[in-house]
Parts: sequence; structure tokens; C-alpha cells
Amino acid sequence: MAATFTSTVEDTTAVTYAARIEHVSKSFPVRGTPGGSQLVLDDITLDVAPGEFVTLLGASGCGKSTLLNLVAGLDRPSAGSIGTDGRPALMFQEHALFPWLTAGKNIELALKLRGVAKPERRQEAERLLGLVRLEGAYGKRVHELSGGMRQRVALARALAQDSRLLLMDEPFAALDAITRDVLHDELTRIWQETGLSVLFVTHNVREAVRLAQRVVLLSSRPGRIAREWTVGIPQPRRIEDSAVAELSVEITEELRGEIRRHGQH
Ligand SMILES: Nc1ncnc2c1ncn2[C@@H]1O[C@H](COP(=O)(O)OP(=O)(O)OP(=O)(O)O)[C@@H](O)[C@H]1O
Ligand SMILES: [Mg+2]
Repeated sequence: MAATFTSTVEDTTAVTYAARIEHVSKSFPVRGTPGGSQLVLDDITLDVAPGEFVTLLGASGCGKSTLLNLVAGLDRPSAGSIGTDGRPALMFQEHALFPWLTAGKNIELALKLRGVAKPERRQEAERLLGLVRLEGAYGKRVHELSGGMRQRVALARALAQDSRLLLMDEPFAALDAITRDVLHDELTRIWQETGLSVLFVTHNVREAVRLAQRVVLLSSRPGRIAREWTVGIPQPRRIEDSAVAELSVEITEELRGEIRRHGQH
């Protein structure tokens, strides 16, 4: 088995990638089968360039979250190596905000963990709330916010980590289509304004094409890179743009083929 390590590069002078995934495989032990294991990811090699927006697309259960968790350093690969340019920020489908804190204090907590001095936190939290277009929500508690507003706060909190790489796992999947559409626009704008690198997981083909510069399709059982597309459609795009629709049809065909070949979990 190849050497396994996960590295985080802190000296950015020589870094030419935001994330580097090299020959990564991941197996999980099978419960009740001593010594048995299930291969979930098989020999994944993928770079995310600085400032690049990549979407990782695949059927349910193909290993997208597993790969994202490995890049986040939450788990270790069974084989291969992963490097990231600094510590990545994470955003999931569930906002994971602390309900006993206000929106502003949730963000300030991330700033505190980053080492931002107390007197500066309030102003920075307000700035980040402005960036996600939630001016005035500083004192609101989580239960007072709509689903879309909660995801905006979660995005602001992720941005508060000041990471160069943002990892997103179906962050808008639970939102209605209109709210999701608005958040796509906001995410594109923030990505363009900040120069962040984004690795975004979804099983929604339209969403993948709407957002990304590059769409990477994972096969299932085990997850392998099946194909990738460079998306040259100029931003800002609309999800209903004909060019977005056309490429989505092509990618959906390919995804259907993957599901037919391997079955869906
Ligand atoms: N900690 C774990 N232990 C054992 N098996 C796991 C673990 N995490 C994930 N798996 C298995 O790995 C496979 C891939 O799971 P993963 O959550 O990465 O899929 P996914 O592509 O994110 O799916 P979805 O689109 O439904 O979120 C599944 O078969 C799952 O049961
Ligand atoms: Mg998942």
C-alpha cells in the first residue's frame, strides 16, 4: 500500500495548488465481517488550482463526502496523499450554527478561534454579514432566521476562517429553488471578489454547471474519476441559461450511464 499522509502547507510561496489529491483510496471496515473492507474511493488524483472553482459531481453514495472529509483532514486516506494550501474552511448541508448564539456571535466565535483580537471581532463580523448580504442580522438568533439566511450565516462563518480553500458539501440542497438560485449568485460574487478556491460537492448537475469552472464526475462503487468538463460559459450565469442546460444534458447522460453501470446505493 502506498505511503499515507495528509499535509497542510503553511508556507504559501511555493504552493501551486489549493488542494492536491494524489492517488487517494479509501476503504471502510465492513461491520460484522472481520477483516472485510469496502473500497469507497479508488485512486483519485485531482488538483484544485489557486482561485479555481471545482464541483465534484456523482450519484448518492459514490464517495463525494468521504473525499471532501479527507481533504478537510477529518479522516485519513487508506492510500495516497492529500495536501492543502493552509487549513480549509468547511460548509455542510446542515448549517451547524450554535443555536444559543446570535448570528454575529457565531461568526465571532470563528474569528476568535482564528486569533482575531476581541475589539476587532464585532466590526469583522459585521463586514462578513454584509458580504453575504445579511446586514442587520448581527443580533438575530438562529431560530429567527430562514433556512436561506442560516446558510448565509454559515457561509459568513466559513469565510471568517480566512482560509484560501472553501470545501462545501451540498450546502444549498435543503433550500427551495429560488433561494438556492440567489445563493448561487452570492457565492459566485463572493468567489470572484475574494479569489478563494472552492471544492463544491453536489449531486445536482445544473448546480454543478451553474457554479463551476470545472466539473469532475465521480463513478460509483468504488468512486473513481469518470470524466471532467471545463465550463467556459461566462459568469454570472443563470441556472436556466441555454448553455448551462445544454452542458447539463450531456453530463446527466454520462451520470446516468455511471448509475446504470454500477447501480445506485
Ligand atoms: N465512516 C464510515 N464508515 C463506513 N462506511 C462509510 C463511512 N462513511 C461513508 N461510508 C460509506 O461510503 C460510501 C460513500 O459515502 P459518502 O457519504 O461519501 O457518499 P456521497 O457521495 O457523499 O453520498 P450522498 O450524495 O448521498 O451524500 C457509502 O457506501 C457509505 O456507506
Ligand atoms: Mg454526501
